[in-house]
Amino acid sequence: MPLTDFVTDPADPFSAVTHAAPYDYYRRLADGPPLRFDAQLDCWLATGAIGVRAVLAHPACRVRPADLGVPHNLAGTPCGAIFSELVRMNEGERHALPKQVLARALGQVDMESLQRRALYLAGDRVPGSADQLNDAIFELPLFAMADLLGFAPAQWPALAAWTRSFVACLSPLSNAEQLAGAQVAADALLQSFGRLLREGDVRPGSMLAAIVAEADALGWQASGGVLANLVGLLSQTCDATAGLLGNAIVALRAQPELSQLSAAPELWPAMLREVSLRDPAIHNTRRYTAEDAQFNGVRVPAGQMIIVVLASAGHAESGFGHGRHACPGQAIALAIATACLQAWAGALESLPLAWTYLPSLNARIPVFAQGDNA
Ligand code: HEM
Repeated sequence: MPLTDFVTDPADPFSAVTHAAPYDYYRRLADGPPLRFDAQLDCWLATGAIGVRAVLAHPACRVRPADLGVPHNLAGTPCGAIFSELVRMNEGERHALPKQVLARALGQVDMESLQRRALYLAGDRVPGSADQLNDAIFELPLFAMADLLGFAPAQWPALAAWTRSFVACLSPLSNAEQLAGAQVAADALLQSFGRLLREGDVRPGSMLAAIVAEADALGWQASGGVLANLVGLLSQTCDATAGLLGNAIVALRAQPELSQLSAAPELWPAMLREVSLRDPAIHNTRRYTAEDAQFNGVRVPAGQMIIVVLASAGHAESGFGHGRHACPGQAIALAIATACLQAWAGALESLPLAWTYLPSLNARIPVFAQGDNA
């Protein structure tokens, strides 16, 4: 990691995401006004617990610009077809009904058996090198989700690879080659879920069965929407859970006193909750004003972008969002990450690890190399 990262503040909330030590900067942002216009970025910043909550709760603050449901570069493509249906990217009825279905189905997951199953899967893939660890923090959560959804083990590696390719379409940093790969992956993911649903192979008791049942019960009939949001469950798991797991491994390395946790696995969930507050995986999200909005006397005109700096909200907030778009997958992510730490922490102690962060404007995901950051 560049030495200058330790002495230079991040230039803005985007570079803070992958900065070695951004939390003093975030604290200073939180000490400033909850909502301010940043002339350099040409958008608004919502900071501190008050600013973050106010914007995420405000009905005029939408997840997409009013006139652009799907980004121009994805319009008319398989990625665009998924993007346009995701609960994460919609408001009103197109958000409320699918969100209710997903929340109810995710709420039925038996967390103890998920954790046991993930522990078994993680125990089978204990990383023996930094490279293997980099793959494992992405793969294990995706394997566990694919299993939960009802896919057979032979399908997991392809599903995980497609999901990692697909999420490239969600990042403004992706190049043309990555975007082309995302389109192929989007098609493959849609077909995989389509086959699973069509062939009546839905495993009784699986999460897919619960989603189908809840969709029927609540009257969510748009089959394209269901398929897209099934892909969404994998894509929402991908970067965020890798970040949680990776940042927990960084904490174990940077705070040697935590190594005692290996002997007390019942403390892993509390440790992970701390990590999700102190070094969260998702540092910011965006909102767009659909009409003029007032926040404690500050007027934001219609059509503006607001960067909601989640990581500046301090310990009052979790890294899982807030308000109507808050994450419904928190318990699942924590159960999977707990299992991985339990299976890997002992073996990781003897691995010499250094880390930087994967390029991203919103997700903090370490990339490990052989070495020593200390
Ligand atoms: C550590 C792991 C995770 C973190 C840090 C995380 C974080 C977040 C955040 C911050 C949001 C809100 C985004 C916004 O308001 O703009 C969100 C939304 C969402 N997350 Fe997660 N997430 C994680 C894992 C998961 C998992 C495992 C699933 C699926 C099982 C999931 C499913 C979703 C969905 C469907 C939404 C959209 C909800 C909506 O728009 O109403 N997440 N997540």
